Amino acid sequence: MRAVDIIAKKRDGEELSANEIGFFVQGLVSGEIPDYQVAAWAMAVVWRGMTPAETAALTMAMVRSGEVMDLARLGPVVVDKHSTGGVGDKTTLVVAPLVSAAGLPVAKMSGRGLGFSGGTLDKLEAIPGFDVSLSTGAFLATAREAGIVVAGQTGDLVPADGKLYALRDVTATVPSLPLIASSIMSKKIAGGADAIVLDVKVGKGAFMRTLDDARALAEAMIAIGRQVGRRVTAVLSDMNQPLGLAVGNALEVAEAIAALRGEGPEDLVEHCLVVAAEMLVLGERAADPAEARVQLEALLADGSALERFRRWVRAQGGDPRVADDVGMLPTAPVMRAVEAPRGGFLAGIDAEEVGLVSVALGAGRQRKGDPIDPAVGIVLGPKVGARVEAGERLLTVHAHTEDDADEAARRLLAAYTWSEEPVATPPLVYDVIRGE
Ligand code: URA
Repeated sequence: MRAVDIIAKKRDGEELSANEIGFFVQGLVSGEIPDYQVAAWAMAVVWRGMTPAETAALTMAMVRSGEVMDLARLGPVVVDKHSTGGVGDKTTLVVAPLVSAAGLPVAKMSGRGLGFSGGTLDKLEAIPGFDVSLSTGAFLATAREAGIVVAGQTGDLVPADGKLYALRDVTATVPSLPLIASSIMSKKIAGGADAIVLDVKVGKGAFMRTLDDARALAEAMIAIGRQVGRRVTAVLSDMNQPLGLAVGNALEVAEAIAALRGEGPEDLVEHCLVVAAEMLVLGERAADPAEARVQLEALLADGSALERFRRWVRAQGGDPRVADDVGMLPTAPVMRAVEAPRGGFLAGIDAEEVGLVSVALGAGRQRKGDPIDPAVGIVLGPKVGARVEAGERLLTVHAHTEDDADEAARRLLAAYTWSEEPVATPPLVYDVIRGE
């Protein structure tokens, strides 16, 4: 087999066999196939696409390129969740203890912030002492003992994706449905998931800007699941405005704790219940989402979910008292309330710009490896659809300096759009697609 023939075949729109795809992925990992050939192949895939069978073969070839976590001892069905990334998305912080309290083990690998979207690991590290860098052994032991663990990637999972993604990033070949879908799914499968709930975000503050694009990505990932024997459910959820009110690491932890206490913002709690319910159904802990919801609401109301959060924090070296005293989280020296410059109905809060402002405040990274400030960020007041009076608090900026707060306030005010007419509250979830 020759790499050049495989590139030519894809260039001409033909379907590659699983063997050819396996050969190519092996070659790219070993270095036998040089970067320029991988890049040419990736561009051919961008233009020609891939059939469901090719996409599944690519996914599994990438899974086989490295270690695969064996989570079979945790339970009969291991369910993972994955968000395609958004602003204010602290769903894992709420959903993980919630479903763990419902008896579904959680052993999840998460990532750091990327661009304007936040990352679960950065949020968890805002908790004093919390350790997200676990060895594979410690990861598995914590999952077994505490029933819940969330950490950075352990071991050498999917090296093919690491290499391919880095090349795609610099050769304009990221936007390809089969390449994105196989990249995400290979990491979930190598992480040991039998079933996966995908939280596919749609809108200004998401990777997928339109519902059609989000649906196509969801369907591509569900098709992979179908081909490789993993049940996949996709929740298509709104990311035009941030989720919940808090954006920024410690602020989001505090909001997640409030949600676990039953005091969270309505949209965040509702979103978390939708995602958690789908996880319980896939994990065979409930017959349908309605039954799952009854269980989940009870676990929130009786404090079990919060207790599981304490257990989780303790198991990963953090101080569990944070669940009862969010004052232990880092706080920013400057807190600036920003008032509404006018009255009217809130028509939009540009999630991408809110995310970018939070990065500029120091909550995210401008470059890979930059330090972040866990304390800074933004807490929104009224959200889209609300009627606001001039002078009412619109949001609060948590900043390191007065100058940072000035600049953030200026940019954030420009991220709001207004209407004289009533504005409907936007939907939280557009659709739930369940692979059989
Ligand atoms: N996220 C991933 O993990 N991979 C992609 O290709 C795009 C987004």
